[in-house]
Amino acid sequence: MLSEQTRTIVKSTAPVLAEHGKTITTVFYSNMFEAHPELLNIFNQANQKQGRQQTALANTVYAAAVHIDNLEAILPAVEQIAHKHVSLGVKAEHYPIVGEYLLKAIKEVLGDAATDEIINAWAEAYGVIADVFINMENGMYKEAETQENGWSFFKDFTIARKVKESENITSFYLKPADGKNVPSYEAGQYITVRLAIPGEEFLFNRQYSLSQASRPDEFRISVKREADNDPNGMVSVYLHENMNEGDTIEVSAPAGEFVLDTKRETPVAFVSGGVGITPMMSMFETVATQTPERPVSFLHAARNETLHAFDKDVQKYVATMDNAKYKTLYSDEPQGYITREILEDMVDASGEVYVCGPVPFMEKMISELRALGMSDEQIHYEFFGPAVALQSV
Ligand code: HEM
Repeated sequence: MLSEQTRTIVKSTAPVLAEHGKTITTVFYSNMFEAHPELLNIFNQANQKQGRQQTALANTVYAAAVHIDNLEAILPAVEQIAHKHVSLGVKAEHYPIVGEYLLKAIKEVLGDAATDEIINAWAEAYGVIADVFINMENGMYKEAETQENGWSFFKDFTIARKVKESENITSFYLKPADGKNVPSYEAGQYITVRLAIPGEEFLFNRQYSLSQASRPDEFRISVKREADNDPNGMVSVYLHENMNEGDTIEVSAPAGEFVLDTKRETPVAFVSGGVGITPMMSMFETVATQTPERPVSFLHAARNETLHAFDKDVQKYVATMDNAKYKTLYSDEPQGYITREILEDMVDASGEVYVCGPVPFMEKMISELRALGMSDEQIHYEFFGPAVALQSV
């Protein structure tokens, strides 16, 4: 239990740290990776280059500090992050390293203003916050290990099939290399793929949504090939160009809480942009096979026909359901955008909506759906990348 004095210091200095957030975290990461380069096997180096993850981690520590009297309040946020940590194999022993370098960076940036009293208070608070994460993550690892066919950390999978879905999206069907089945998962969950790329010093991790409903014997991910010069593209280009049927990759167990609520019978709409279609495929297929009478609509935005994945699969399911609507818009064509009128026509505002796509797309869709009277409880979304990017929505 933190003392009253420690809590007061932490709460009153949190805004100062947040103000210097970017500088502190840049110093923090560069010193930490210099001393512990092995952590680059876990962190996404492209996110590091773009400064995205920097802000996410430290901002969360400050936000948690503000709630230090009542850490229960941050549990929902912790859960989402813990899913990501567990999917990446973050361990309890990593927390003191992050804590040490975060505190050193605070000291370095704030200089004399960071008195010993302040630093000690933050060290204590970080310990408490880290424990909340560690406990939740340990619970998740245990659950993953005890689930039928489950495992924790990484396991070898074989690429069973590679199928081109559009000009830039290819599906990889993955089966456990030990011949076992896979654990069941919720529609919308993701896995992490871990790769050693020849010539690169560190391992690469990327999360990909599972793009089909849970099946006993395989996972499917559908990967968009990014541009060659995009630092985020390293893995997707390597997968497209160099990974073939029969090759082995490491995979972590399904995680994530952007999932379809299968208990509901209310109308449900799936709205996606580009490769954001992947978790929607898993959700849509789940509705089609488990509750085909549920009113459902599938609304998708692609640049053009050649970049449009899964069209035939969606059509096939629509044909088997009583109450399904499907529409795709191509942004290369005039009036090719999803407008409020289209949303009004396709999305039943009394039900649930799941949105996934690039950030500007999501921001637009979420604000239009709110304008149609949908509440935040009805609008579910996930953005690929650090979730912090959407906090302003
Ligand atoms: C991602 C917070 C400790 C490794 C994140 C994200 C947040 C966060 C907010 C972004 C989540 C998202 O994208 O949805 C924290 C907090 C920590 C902590 C508050 C301490 C209390 C750690 C530790 C490690 C770690 C100890 C491992 C050394 C990662 C990695 C990512 C991540 C690898 C994925 C993003 C990327 O690769 O760039 N964390 N984290 N975190 N965290 Fe943590």
